[in-house]
Amino acid sequence: ADALKIGIAGLGTVGASLAKILVERRDMLTTTCGRPIEIVAVTARTKGRDRGVDLSAAEWFDDPAAMARDATIDVFVELMGGAGDPALAAVKAALSRGVHVVTANKALLAAHGVELAAIAEKNGCILNYEAAVAGGIPVIKALRESLTGNTISRVYGIMNGTCNYILTKMEKEGLSFEVCLKEAQRLGYAEADPAFDIEGNDTAHKLSILTTLAFGTKIAADDIYLEGITNISIDDIRAAADLGYRIKLLGVAQRTDTGVEQRVHPTMVPLDSVIAQVDGVTNAVAIESDILGELLMVGPGAGGNATASAVLGDIADIAKSRPGAQTVPALGRPAAALAPYKRAQ
Ligand code: HSE
Repeated sequence: ADALKIGIAGLGTVGASLAKILVERRDMLTTTCGRPIEIVAVTARTKGRDRGVDLSAAEWFDDPAAMARDATIDVFVELMGGAGDPALAAVKAALSRGVHVVTANKALLAAHGVELAAIAEKNGCILNYEAAVAGGIPVIKALRESLTGNTISRVYGIMNGTCNYILTKMEKEGLSFEVCLKEAQRLGYAEADPAFDIEGNDTAHKLSILTTLAFGTKIAADDIYLEGITNISIDDIRAAADLGYRIKLLGVAQRTDTGVEQRVHPTMVPLDSVIAQVDGVTNAVAIESDILGELLMVGPGAGGNATASAVLGDIADIAKSRPGAQTVPALGRPAAALAPYKRAQ
């Protein structure tokens, strides 16, 4: 069968991991997907850097939008990050010409997800973004597909690996906030601007996407009570432990009688709860629904391989899909069918 041709925009931690896996596991992927997956185009901020993988056969583009517009690709893989351009313009350009998009960009989706989903639908494209929330945990698939038909009452969890890594290291090794943050950056967990991690915005972006999938409301990333972990000291962590609690940065979205409640803040969780045992860069997402009951998913939440694994799954889904076959709407239901967001009183 014809190869699935992909273009990768962004060759940072995630992009480089993905490219490496695609090259090294080419034969295995060809077997499982029924066709080869080929990297035919790439774009990144710097060209020459050694990324541990030979991409010389792929066409190089200086400009992501140009790659989205001009490259002969079936899938545009957006791993640049950032809520606005160049990611926004490039993703729009790809979807507008019928090219499928796989992205890990939660900031982009939090800001423009409904608009992008509508463009994807109009052009018969798939917009997949499993890696955007909780790294390698298949939470988008769970909400978008597996739980269809359930009424969901609450979604919550640990959705930022950097913060959980910092809180864990502060507690277990007694290291300062700053030292732990530096280590998280070195390991490739943190955002380009780590303020997004520690001030809670990254968790808020992810939560807003889960809220939409869970409750069928338009994305409302600005309507979230937000408090990060920058004020948490080792003394706070010790005091919580003395009382039988651990401090975790949680994102919580729940349905109430008056609307939807969304909040992100450090939370004291009982030491004997499962959430309290979630250590380091690991994330956890709990979903409470009426038919299934409570689902709890725990797994790697950030870093090159964990994120690349989710991106790869999204690409493989497209490789296996039949052209013209009905695809899953990007936001779980058609964009036009999303209800207005109503904040709980
Ligand atoms: N900076 C993010 C985190 C990356 O630490 O969770 C994964 O989205």
